[in-house]
Amino acid sequence: MKNLAIILAGGEGTRMHSAKPKVMAEILFRPMIDRVLDAAKGAGVDDVCVVTGYKAEILEKHLEGRAVCVHQAERLGTGHAVMQALPYVRENGFDNVLILNGDAPFIDSDTIREALSYHLTRGFVQTVISAKIDEPYGYGRIIRDKNGDFTAIIEEASADKETKKINEINSGAMWFQAAALVDLLSRVTNDNSKGEYYLTDTVGIAVGEKRPVGAFTAKNADAVLGANTRVQLMELNELLRHKILEKLMLAGVSIPCTDGVIVDPDAEIGADTVILPGTIIKEGCVIGENCVVGPNTVLYKTKVGSGVTLNQVQAEEAEVADDANLGPFVHLRPNARVGAHVHCGNFVEIKNSTLGEHTAVSHLTYVGDSDVGKGVNFGCGVVTVNFNGKTKNRCVIGDDAFIGCNTNLIAPVSVGDRAYTAAGSTIDRDVPDDALAIARSRQENKERWVIKRKPYREKKY
Ligand code: UD1
Ligand code: CA
Repeated sequence: MKNLAIILAGGEGTRMHSAKPKVMAEILFRPMIDRVLDAAKGAGVDDVCVVTGYKAEILEKHLEGRAVCVHQAERLGTGHAVMQALPYVRENGFDNVLILNGDAPFIDSDTIREALSYHLTRGFVQTVISAKIDEPYGYGRIIRDKNGDFTAIIEEASADKETKKINEINSGAMWFQAAALVDLLSRVTNDNSKGEYYLTDTVGIAVGEKRPVGAFTAKNADAVLGANTRVQLMELNELLRHKILEKLMLAGVSIPCTDGVIVDPDAEIGADTVILPGTIIKEGCVIGENCVVGPNTVLYKTKVGSGVTLNQVQAEEAEVADDANLGPFVHLRPNARVGAHVHCGNFVEIKNSTLGEHTAVSHLTYVGDSDVGKGVNFGCGVVTVNFNGKTKNRCVIGDDAFIGCNTNLIAPVSVGDRAYTAAGSTIDRDVPDDALAIARSRQENKERWVIKRKPYREKKY
């Protein structure tokens, strides 16, 4: 069996007031189209074809290598959108075709799979995924006859008063036998108030010819929700955000106040970890047990061990080992690897560097492109001078070294094990193990200089 998913994504989404296609609008930092694409792939379809229209070039670039795109030059309705993909369907010999709306981001793989088995076991030519919702306004309604058999979909614009009361709606997602899709679509017309080719008219046509169709009611009613405005987008964000936070809490993560806490659905967070307000955990994060994350911490593709404190930390593509204590105001940039029991705090930036265990970088320091050993102490205001305007170079600092306050380490340079640098030194030659490097001019005191020169200043007290 060879199955294709067609994702409809041509619409402009006028009410978003955006220069981007509507399906690029994000739910928890991911465009809606990506969520729909993942659901299709997760359900095991063999191929995905996306129908683009408004600002097609943005979508084509975004989807490069992940889906085939076909272009719908004019937006003449969902039926017309699917017609654009029919050459692809015919050329590639698919058995079944799944249609998905790119603006319904909560469709999930389980619902798609369950609907397919319902579709196959009953031998339907078309199986629509429906849902019962409290506010059906705007959706196509599922029409059933006295026996409960599915007979048609009526769009909001064509619905009479009684039909509008029906709360079982078309999710927009549906399975077709490929040959039936081609055949049914060829008979859809634009004879309606909007002058559009409605994909949903295929149901009435099939039923008129006594061909078997079905409506599969999704257990997950959220699977159908869509966003047409940014207010609805916020509502979808809130729905998913709370769902994720509740799942985490039920698995042992403490979130005493959910204000401003946003966590990616795939984040792994261990039990007894506490997430404090204003914390955003984006994709690709793993956090161990017994950590305190936040307040106001933002993590992206970052791995955090257990027993770690991250107070007002921003970290991207970084790693933090067990029992490290970072913050307040620490920035870990890509490839920062912070060892166990490390402390960083108060305006410290670490980039493309390793810090060995028990190292302390407490104040106003930049460590970039450096390999730092264990138990190193950085005084306040140390700078690794890693960039000479042309190339980046590395600093190597041995175990138990002591870097004095306001030291500049001009890379490439190394400081040996247990070596010291004097405060205010600019180090551009390697420092051997156990040595003290002093690289500053010797202090001179000019006796009675003030009395002789009388540099009078106005007294302020
Ligand atoms: C559609 C369904 C409705 C269903 C609802 C579920 C039809 C006629 N109606 O209505 O029964 O309840 O979805 O959300 O199918 N698109 C194109 N080209 C077009 C028109 C639309 O690619 O010419 C795309 C849009 O970008 C969108 C999807 O198709 O992703 C659905 O279109 P939209 O106009 O939002 O349909 P609804 O009015 O929501
Ligand atoms: Ca829609």
